[in-house]
Amino acid sequence: MAIKRIAVMTSGGDSPGMNAAIMSIVETAIARGLDILGIKRGYEGLLDEDLVPLSLDKVRGIAFKGGTILGTSRSKRFLKLEWQRYALDIITANDIDALIIIGGDGSLHGAWELSKLGIPTIGLPGTIDNDLSGTDFTIGFDTAVHVARNAIAKIGDIAKTEDTAFVVEVMGRHSGFIALFAGLTSGADFIVFPENPISAEFIGKCLLKRQSALRKTSSSVIVLAEGVSDGFTYAQEIRDVVGNNITINVSVLGYIQRGGVPTAFDSFVATFLGHHAVEMLLQGKKNGMVGIHGLDAIFTPYEDLFSTKSTPPASLIELANLTNMCGCRDI
Ligand code: F6P
Repeated sequence: MAIKRIAVMTSGGDSPGMNAAIMSIVETAIARGLDILGIKRGYEGLLDEDLVPLSLDKVRGIAFKGGTILGTSRSKRFLKLEWQRYALDIITANDIDALIIIGGDGSLHGAWELSKLGIPTIGLPGTIDNDLSGTDFTIGFDTAVHVARNAIAKIGDIAKTEDTAFVVEVMGRHSGFIALFAGLTSGADFIVFPENPISAEFIGKCLLKRQSALRKTSSSVIVLAEGVSDGFTYAQEIRDVVGNNITINVSVLGYIQRGGVPTAFDSFVATFLGHHAVEMLLQGKKNGMVGIHGLDAIFTPYEDLFSTKSTPPASLIELANLTNMCGCRDI
């Protein structure tokens, strides 16, 4: 069936660069003579038939804006088959031939459910977590790393000045990519993430050892991915080991990692993927995600995408542990 009209939505947690992807999709669609609709507020907006026609005017200049002009949601309704069927009726009634869905793991599972009902979909990886296989980088990851890295470096200044230790909690529910990249690029002392869940007890003992024997300092920055523990609990577990010898402060970075102007790299990845999503639909590709590998666009069917978990390579984990274990390997 020839594709004449497509729709785009952003879904789940927003991520910097989603707007650039929307802009690129609209520009490519219009250049190829397609009609393009925007679906507001992700799957919730789809179920409410909250659709808007998109034009070049509507997307001009948005590549620099954080958030997403279409809004987003985490839809509970859409998890149920009856609502997925209802969404299909809305899609059919609006003559939409294919959907492009920008979001993370949950959102792309939703896209897969729609494709099983018969509507062609293409997913784009839009999440700060970088936890999707089928792509080197997800849209928003680089910006989140920049924000976290700058914050960690600032906290490092305070740790040195006050000779105290800080636990800095970063986002990444099931994945350590943000902690790993932000920790490595900010010179953090310890990097703790789900794929490298160093115990608070070990860190406490290591801090004591460094204080007494090695560097004669208490200053330390511990980057902790939220997927391991919350920062306050983890800090308390370190205090249980170090007692009054070392002050342990906590800083939770939270949502600032998801907002703001996307970095040039995120804007590039988003623009590249948005363009290729439309081109691939027109070439007959469907029911999978478009990712970036080197400077190539790659297509991964949903069943392959979800059968592989994206984890940091062992070599990067070892690199993180060179600093983590410095002087403490025998503990
Ligand atoms: O998936 C992106 C993410 O920012 C995670 O890193 C974080 O755990 C989660 O979303 C927060 O979700 P919510 O916006 O629902 O609080």
